[in-house]
Amino acid sequence: MKVLIHDSAEAAVAAIANRIVEKVIAKPACVLGLATGGTVEPVYDAMVQKYDQQKVSYSRIRTFNLDEYVGLSPDHPMSYHHFMEKHLFGRTDISASNTSIPFGNAANPAEEAKRYEAEIKRCGGIDCQLLGVGENGHIGFNEPTSSLSSTVRIKTLAPETVRANSRYFQRIEDVPRLSITMGIGTILCAREIVLIATGDNKSKAVLEMIEGPLSARCPASALQLHPHAEIYLDAAAASQLTLRDYYEAVHPNGKVES
Ligand code: GLP
Repeated sequence: MKVLIHDSAEAAVAAIANRIVEKVIAKPACVLGLATGGTVEPVYDAMVQKYDQQKVSYSRIRTFNLDEYVGLSPDHPMSYHHFMEKHLFGRTDISASNTSIPFGNAANPAEEAKRYEAEIKRCGGIDCQLLGVGENGHIGFNEPTSSLSSTVRIKTLAPETVRANSRYFQRIEDVPRLSITMGIGTILCAREIVLIATGDNKSKAVLEMIEGPLSARCPASALQLHPHAEIYLDAAAASQLTLRDYYEAVHPNGKVES
């Protein structure tokens, strides 16, 4: 695990976006795993900016999103389909037919989960998975006590996740209680992982993710098992790490060699 600590959230965002763009330039038809949430919004803004500056084309990439709320149709304003269209897909040359997000409104969500896992495999697996992390350590919607080898399936949102995500809904009662999410096992199959966490409210999850123990209590701690995981942090998210001097000595200013 490479722990990359930046002075500011802006610097962490720029670094992770540059890393993703580098990967697309190196392999234009790469398979990217994508995430939603407030933390990745500026990452997508930075990726769009690179596209606007004609530094990269996303026309050949294939994408798979982590998750979707059960019950929301793709055109629902709070769906992750809508989020992706608004923040990334609709602003670049990504071809709609090259994007996949689980269908939350599928007649049989359990079947949809199986179909989604199979579709990822059929495309040869994910080259690089972008992640955020929940305050409770969740990745995707894999809440605490999720199986560390889980595949795409239905998961019930933890009460703290319902509360955190209610900021996007009119009323807390409107937040769906179920999701279809890649499993932790699905995420660990990605060949590379890049995760971003910014702000004080993520510092406990970041501590548990990086310094352990490895436990289903903190799903993100499963990334300790991954051979190519890079964790992009700002100073606030890194504030509880006990080995910070070590991480900063290995990667001064969050710099990582290619
Ligand atoms: C959401 C998503 C996660 C995301 C997390 C953090 O519920 N399912 O993929 O990483 O919560 O979101 P935020 O960046 O808004 O804190």
